Amino acid sequence: MLTDKAKQGYSRQMDNKFAWTENEIKQFGYQVVDMIAHHLTTLPQEPAFKPYPPELKQALAQAEAPQQGQDREQLLAEIGRLVDPYPFGNGHPRYFAWVNSQPAIISIFAEALAAAWNPSCAGGNHAATYIEHQVTRWFREMIGLPAGSGGLFVSGGSMASLTALAVARHVKAGAHIRQQGLQNEPQRLLIYTSQEGHSCIHKAVELLGIGRDNIRLIPTDSNFRLDVAALQTAVSNDLAAGHKPIAVVASAGTVNTGAIDPLGEITAVCRQHNLWLHVDGAYGAPAILTDPYRDQLAPLAHVDSLALDPHKWMYIPVEAGLVLLRDANALRDTFSLVPPYLRFNEDAGDIGGPPWFSEFGFQQTRGFKAFKVWAALSYHGWQGYKAALENDIALANHLADLIRATPDLELIEPTSLSIVCFRHRPADPTLTSEALNQHNQAILKQVQLGGEVFLTGTTLRGQFVLRACVVNPRSSLADVAAIVTAVQQAASMELTQ
Ligand SMILES: Cc1ncc(COP(=O)(O)O)c(C=O)c1O
Repeated sequence: MLTDKAKQGYSRQMDNKFAWTENEIKQFGYQVVDMIAHHLTTLPQEPAFKPYPPELKQALAQAEAPQQGQDREQLLAEIGRLVDPYPFGNGHPRYFAWVNSQPAIISIFAEALAAAWNPSCAGGNHAATYIEHQVTRWFREMIGLPAGSGGLFVSGGSMASLTALAVARHVKAGAHIRQQGLQNEPQRLLIYTSQEGHSCIHKAVELLGIGRDNIRLIPTDSNFRLDVAALQTAVSNDLAAGHKPIAVVASAGTVNTGAIDPLGEITAVCRQHNLWLHVDGAYGAPAILTDPYRDQLAPLAHVDSLALDPHKWMYIPVEAGLVLLRDANALRDTFSLVPPYLRFNEDAGDIGGPPWFSEFGFQQTRGFKAFKVWAALSYHGWQGYKAALENDIALANHLADLIRATPDLELIEPTSLSIVCFRHRPADPTLTSEALNQHNQAILKQVQLGGEVFLTGTTLRGQFVLRACVVNPRSSLADVAAIVTAVQQAASMELTQ
């Protein structure tokens, strides 16, 4: 064992900044922990959003890449000047914009530990492999998927849906596609999703070579949910025309309104026509834990594949997405290509360990994303998550009630999960719908730059609306009430201009 002193001598001699002594690691680590603690505890007193200062933008764009590097103290000061004060905003209890949550604190430290171990989770007989298997099993059991199901961690919901749809294409359109591609397909392959389906589904269909023209965008009902009768008609017409429908992508929590498609009825349509059912539950699937949504989400137990993002409504620091498959073998059949240097005898079980994750997905070298999820789940438990999600839902319901009770604010009904859409609608009968859209766009900009709360906007049935998404266990009733105040103030400023 080298002593600290000896190591220091060695690293200094070689000017080896990659080799730190135990003390150096501790000293720097303590300072980083101070920065983390300060950031997390003072954030609520900061504006919900502040744009990155133009002079820093310019400085970053112009600075030369360092040739010699700097010392650690300088580096920390630089981080404190350039990065730490200008977060995306999602850790703030008044950030209600996209589905980006505050980070579970336990997972911040888990992330650091995972980086210290730095395993490749391509596979192998080491702890990370078994932790990932364990945590994916916990999720499969929580959703109610049967034995034989499987899954793996990916970067997020987009990658999870791409992975799942690759399996759908393999199973429903034919294994020959791995070899031949789609060049010789005699029939048109078709995918069905609702008009409220997430754009990542469109990207996935493009990447899989199916082409966006072959997505049937099914209209939604008055609740923003996929219209099952329209789906049934579209599939029947396409079959009659000689096309090949392969998959339906349903949403368990759309990004716009949190709508949950009628999963049970869609499952029945898929069974009738032998279609793959993928559910994009990137945002909403964890709500199966909650009392208000358990029943609506119970059909998730019957899907062929599911995308679920722990980095959304499970508060895991980005990135952490999860794809679950009813049949783990189908996942392996879709992706497995084992190069000779990675062929282990599974039975020997010493170096190779269980079948490698890299056989079940696109990535070879993979980070230990599972660990931060495992740590959060081990610490909070499903009951902790149930309580936190129910709290977010209650806050969203409270906001909806406040909006209903406020003159000039119009709630877009129904609300679902923890998303609330609404708009400011002054009592002026001469306002055209375009003027109303512009009025709300102007309000949004003011609210965002005002820093009191951070919202986003979206378009629903041609109307521009304000949108609040509550995915933060640190948010309070007062925080959601601040949304109404900020919107009212911005609206009256707009109207008096
Ligand atoms: C419903 C839904 N699906 C998919 C995605 C894409 O997930 P990711 O951004 O993790 O790739 C999002 C992202 O907001 C989403 O809200």
